Amino acid sequence: MSDTQAVEAPAKTTITVVVDGVSIEANPGELVINAAKRAGVEIPHFCYHPRMEPVGMCRMCLVDIDTGRGPALQPSCMIPVAPGMVVGTTSDTVTKAQDGMLEFLLINHPLDCPVCDKGGECPLQDQTVAYGPGESRMVEEKRHFEKPIPISDLVFLDRERCILCDRCTRFASDVAGDALIQFTERGNNTQVMTFPDESFASYFSGNVVQICPVGALTAKPYRFKARPWDLEQTESTCTTCSVGCRITVQSSRDELLRYQGVDSDPVNWGWLCDKGRFGFESVNSTNRFTQPLLKGEVTSWSQALDAAAGAIKAAIDRDGPKSVAMIGGANGTNEDAYAWAKLAKTIMGTGNVDAQLGDGLSADALLGLPRATIDEACAAGVLLVISPDIKEELPVLFIRLRDAVMNRGLKIVEVTPKATGLSSLAAVSVQHRPGEGAEAVRAILGQATTGQISVLPDVIAKAAGLLGGAVNVAIVGRTNLAEPVSASAEAISAVIAASGDTKFLAVTRRGNTLGALEMGLTPGVLSGHRVGGPEGLDTNGILQAASEGKISVLVLLGADPLSDFADSDLARRGLAGVGTVIAIDTLPNDSNALAHVVLPASGFAEKSGTTTNLEGRVSTLAQKVTSPGTARADWMIATELAWRLGGDLGIESTADVWTEVANASAYFAGCSTAAFGAPGAADGVLLPMPVTSVSLGTIASADESEATEAGGESAGSTQMLVTFATTTTVHRPAPQDAFSLRLIVGRELYDDGVALHNSASMSHLNRGGVMQLGSHDFDQLGIRPGERVRATSSRTSLVVEVKRNDAVPRGSVYMAFNQPNVSAADLIDATSATIDIRLETIS
Ligand code: SF4
Ligand code: SF4
Ligand code: FES
Repeated sequence: MSDTQAVEAPAKTTITVVVDGVSIEANPGELVINAAKRAGVEIPHFCYHPRMEPVGMCRMCLVDIDTGRGPALQPSCMIPVAPGMVVGTTSDTVTKAQDGMLEFLLINHPLDCPVCDKGGECPLQDQTVAYGPGESRMVEEKRHFEKPIPISDLVFLDRERCILCDRCTRFASDVAGDALIQFTERGNNTQVMTFPDESFASYFSGNVVQICPVGALTAKPYRFKARPWDLEQTESTCTTCSVGCRITVQSSRDELLRYQGVDSDPVNWGWLCDKGRFGFESVNSTNRFTQPLLKGEVTSWSQALDAAAGAIKAAIDRDGPKSVAMIGGANGTNEDAYAWAKLAKTIMGTGNVDAQLGDGLSADALLGLPRATIDEACAAGVLLVISPDIKEELPVLFIRLRDAVMNRGLKIVEVTPKATGLSSLAAVSVQHRPGEGAEAVRAILGQATTGQISVLPDVIAKAAGLLGGAVNVAIVGRTNLAEPVSASAEAISAVIAASGDTKFLAVTRRGNTLGALEMGLTPGVLSGHRVGGPEGLDTNGILQAASEGKISVLVLLGADPLSDFADSDLARRGLAGVGTVIAIDTLPNDSNALAHVVLPASGFAEKSGTTTNLEGRVSTLAQKVTSPGTARADWMIATELAWRLGGDLGIESTADVWTEVANASAYFAGCSTAAFGAPGAADGVLLPMPVTSVSLGTIASADESEATEAGGESAGSTQMLVTFATTTTVHRPAPQDAFSLRLIVGRELYDDGVALHNSASMSHLNRGGVMQLGSHDFDQLGIRPGERVRATSSRTSLVVEVKRNDAVPRGSVYMAFNQPNVSAADLIDATSATIDIRLETIS
C-alpha cells in the first residue's frame, strides 16, 4: 500500500440506536429488549425468555419504537434493532400500555400470593408493583379451576394462576423436544394441559417451574417448603453427571431446599435435568451415615480411623502394598480425589486405585485424547457420536445438541447398537449389532467394507457421505456395557486414523470422573496427566485379584461395585474375597453393607472445592449446609488416615491441593483456588490455563526448582503426559447362532442407584428391570410382550419380563443397567467381547 493511499476504516459491525435518549451500540439482529438491557434499561416482560424464540404473547414489553415514521407501540421482544431506531420506554403511552396489560392480566389472576410458592420472587407481583395501575376496575368473578392438578410426577399446575405466556409450552416443544403440554380450550377457558392419559413425563420438567413467571407451575419436592425470603443461596455446580450444570443451591435453616439453573453460556444455558435439579432430596435423606461404624456399630472417629489404619498397616506388612486397593472417588471433589490418590500412591505405596468402575473409556483415552468443548461439538458442522445414550446419561448435553441440530445446522452421524434419544435428531443413525461398532466406524470412514456387518450399505454410504472421510469433532464413550472397553478403543483409533486432528468430547459416567483421573486416581498416572505413578490394577483387575484372595484391604470411596459394576458375579466374588472393606460414603448401599469400617462423608453442598466436567472445565462447588452428625469431607478423612499410617499429606485446606498440583505439573500451571473463584471464572476454567502452552504430549514445566508432588519426581524435568494408545487390532464379533440375541446394556437417567433410591420424589421413576426386543424377534421367538421368560447367558439364568421396543435392532436385546428386581449385570461376563442371550418361555 502506498503512503498516500487512504486507509479504509474497518466496516462497522454494530448498529447505533437511541434508547431513552441515549445512543447505544447494538448487534445486528439483536432484539430491542436485549439491546436495552445491555444499556441498563430493563423493559418489563413475561413471555420473552432469552434462550427461546420470542412469541409476543403477553405484550408487557410494549415500548415506543420510531424508525422514521413516528413512534408506535411495539413489542420490544419481537423487533430487531435497525439503524437510527429511537426507542422510548417511559413515555405516557408506554406507561398506559403497561398499566393496561397488567390490569388485563390480573382480571383472572387469583391473587393468592400469600399461599403461592412464587410469592416474593414473582415477576407478575414485582411488575405490578413497579409498573401496574395501583387498582383494578374489574369486579367480576374470577375464573376457577380445580387446583392444583399434577401434570407429571414432579410438577403441579394451578391453572387459574397461569397468564398464558407460552414459556412452559415453548420450552417443552422447542427446547426439550417433549411437546407434552399445550394450550387447550379457547378464550376465558384457555389453559395449559397435558394430552389425555399422557403426563408431562420429561426429564426436563423442572425447568418449566423455574421459568414460569407466576406460581402456576410448582415442583412437588419444593412446594410449600419455604418462602423466598427464608432462603439463602450460593452458586455451585451440579455433580450428578459430568455435564456440570451451573446451579444456585438454596437452603433454609441449614437444610437444602432447592436448586435453580444458572445460565452458563458454554455449559447449560440455565437448563437442568430433573435428576440434577431435585437431587437435594438424597442429600437430606434420613438414611445418611452420620457417625463412623465399626462392624455395623456406631463408634468414635478415633476408633474407626485406628481400625482402618490398623487393617491397612497389617495388610501392607503382611502382604505388601499391592494388597491394598481403592475403588471410587469420581463422585467427590478434585481435592478429595487428590488427597486419596496421594495417600494411596505415596503413603500406602499402592497403584491399585481406580475412580472408574469398568464402565468408562480407558484412562489413556480420557486423559490423552485432544479435547473438544460442548460449544465445539455443537459447532462441528458434522458431529460423529459413538457414545451411550446422551439423553439418558448427560441430559443437558442432549439439550445443547438438540438446539444445535434444530437451530444451528448441526448434522449428527450416530453409531449405536440401538436407537437413542438422539436418533430422531441425527442425520444418520447407524444401528449395528453389539460387537460391530468399530467395524461400522471403519466402514463409514472408508477403512473397511460393509460386508462384515449387519448395517445396510446405504446407511453406511449416507454416513460416509456426510463425514467425507474425516471427523472434525466426535463424542465418544462406551456404547454398550455388555462389551469391553477395547471395542471403544478400536472405534476411536479408526477416527484418529481417518483425520489425525479430531477433537473428542468423551462421555464420563460420574460427575467428577475426569477430575479424579486428572488428580491421579487411576493406575500409573500422577496428577496433571503425568505418566510415572505406581503401576496397578483398574477396577476390573482389583475385583479379579480380590476374588483370588490377593486384596487384603479394599477402600470404597463412595463406590458400590455390587450395584454399579457391569459384572455382578465378579463384583460379588471380589468383595467376598477381600479381607477388610473400608467404606467412605454418604448413604448405605449393598457394598458398604459389607464394610468393616464405615467413615461418614460430607455430601453435595456440605463441602467446598472444585469439580471437572467432561470438557475438562473446572468449576467451583460451594458449601451451603453443614454435614449431618460428624460426617466430614473425604480429603480430611484422607489426611487423618495418613497420620495414623505414619505419614503426612501436607494438605490443610483445599487451597493447599492446588498449590501442590500447580507446582508439580505444567498441566495445572496457574491453577489455584483464587483463580477458580475469580470473577471472570464464573463459567469455570478450561485446563490447561493459558499461562502455559501445554499440548497433550511431552511438556516441560516452567520452573525447574518447583516443589515435588505425589511420586516425588521433580516438576522441572520433562514431563511425559498420558497419550491415547491407538490400536490397529480388528476384533470381529463371534458368530451369533440363530437362537440367540445379543445383549445391549445402557444406563438410564432414573435407575436404582442410591441417589435416586433416597429421593422421595424420584425413587419410583425408573422403568424397572425388563428385557426389551424388537417386534420381529417377538414373532421369531414366539413370545408375547409382557410375558415372563427365562433369559440365559454364559453367566446365569434369570426370569424377566419382556417388552416390545422397536428401538432395539433385530437380533439384539436391551436391558437398562441397575434397575430394581432384575439385574442386567448378572448376565454380563466382563471378559467376553459380546454377551449372547437365549430366551425361553416358562411353562
Ligand atoms: Fe406461562 Fe406459567 Fe402459564 Fe406456562 S403455566 S403458560 S409458564 S404462566
Ligand atoms: Fe446435573 Fe447433569 Fe442434569 Fe446438568 S445434566 S443438571 S449436571 S445431572
Ligand atoms: Fe414481549 Fe411478552 S415479553 S410480548
